[in-house]
Amino acid sequence: NSVENGSFTWSSPSNIALVKYWGKKKDQIPENPSISFTLDHCKTTTILSFSKKENQDSFSFEVFLDGEKKDDFKPKIETFFKRIEVYLPFLKTYHFKIETSNTFPHSSGIASSASGMSALALCLMSMEKELVLNSALSKVEGGKENFEDFFTQKASFLARLGSGSACRSLEGDLVVWGEHENVVGSSDLFGVKYPFEVHQNFKNYHDTILLVDKGEKQVSSTVGHNLMHGHAFAGERFKQARTNLSHLINVLKEGDLDAFIALVESEALTLHAMMMTSMPYFILMKPNTLEIINKIWAYRQESGSKVCFTLDAGANVHVLYPEKESGKVLEFIKNELVGYCQNGHYISDKIGFGAKLI
Ligand code: PMV
Repeated sequence: NSVENGSFTWSSPSNIALVKYWGKKKDQIPENPSISFTLDHCKTTTILSFSKKENQDSFSFEVFLDGEKKDDFKPKIETFFKRIEVYLPFLKTYHFKIETSNTFPHSSGIASSASGMSALALCLMSMEKELVLNSALSKVEGGKENFEDFFTQKASFLARLGSGSACRSLEGDLVVWGEHENVVGSSDLFGVKYPFEVHQNFKNYHDTILLVDKGEKQVSSTVGHNLMHGHAFAGERFKQARTNLSHLINVLKEGDLDAFIALVESEALTLHAMMMTSMPYFILMKPNTLEIINKIWAYRQESGSKVCFTLDAGANVHVLYPEKESGKVLEFIKNELVGYCQNGHYISDKIGFGAKLI
């Protein structure tokens, strides 16, 4: 092809799962379907610059985070490139410079893999698009238009191969990943925009992320997913996630905030229960995680608020609440919860609408 060099920039958000993905098969195929809210503020911006090279024997790239060279990111990206090479055959014909920055601190305990891998996948797809449009396909009738349809789906497919949950970050405000009989078009291979009606109660939902522990993850998600192989409760858990997703479809349609709370908190605690009951076992919560959960429960009891929590595979707490309560709940968070955060750090976020080409 004739494209010598160029660059693309994408910004892509993080996401927070309501029904969790925990356990995978070969090739990043999830054991159960999951659904997430796309975030708005927490995102990664990636500039991918490329130039043609002579030697086509190996991948060639450099990675920068906030302008600083990051050689320790290279193995992850090398693995990603190996996995996606068959789907993007041009990877070895270019040298890449990958410049990334996050809106959240790198050492915040917030995984940047979902936003980072989706941003990179989108940059690579923009590149593929340019190469394709320079080639014969652009001359085929409908070639260009068909490519547009395919773009997001393939980008999500590639992002999945970087980090499973990354395939849920491209669109918003809700994304389903994993085949489910009630969700038309759902797939194990890529995320799809949630196709059903969502009640006003769930529009513009807020997520304030309390940074309880900003250290490196105690258990990498790769290790965590693998712990589900041969796990005594795995089969039941995968079934439960399917049932919960079916149930959530009605909850989102009806606007039933109490049912939402019960489902989302149970999912978070089940994720942690899976880690506590695997071999080896892990407790990923910290004492302050539990303090925060108890405060949220007490506040809900006292005030009738519909605030709830969810957790990732770590100690930080995502506090979820409806837009119409946002003023009051933020006061509660500042007065009663921020004290449990490491150095008082938290991030105010809300539901967002996906990645953007810059
Ligand atoms: O995308 P991974 O492999 O880092 O897995 C993430 C898993 C959880 O964040 C714990 C749950 C989820 O569905 O996002």
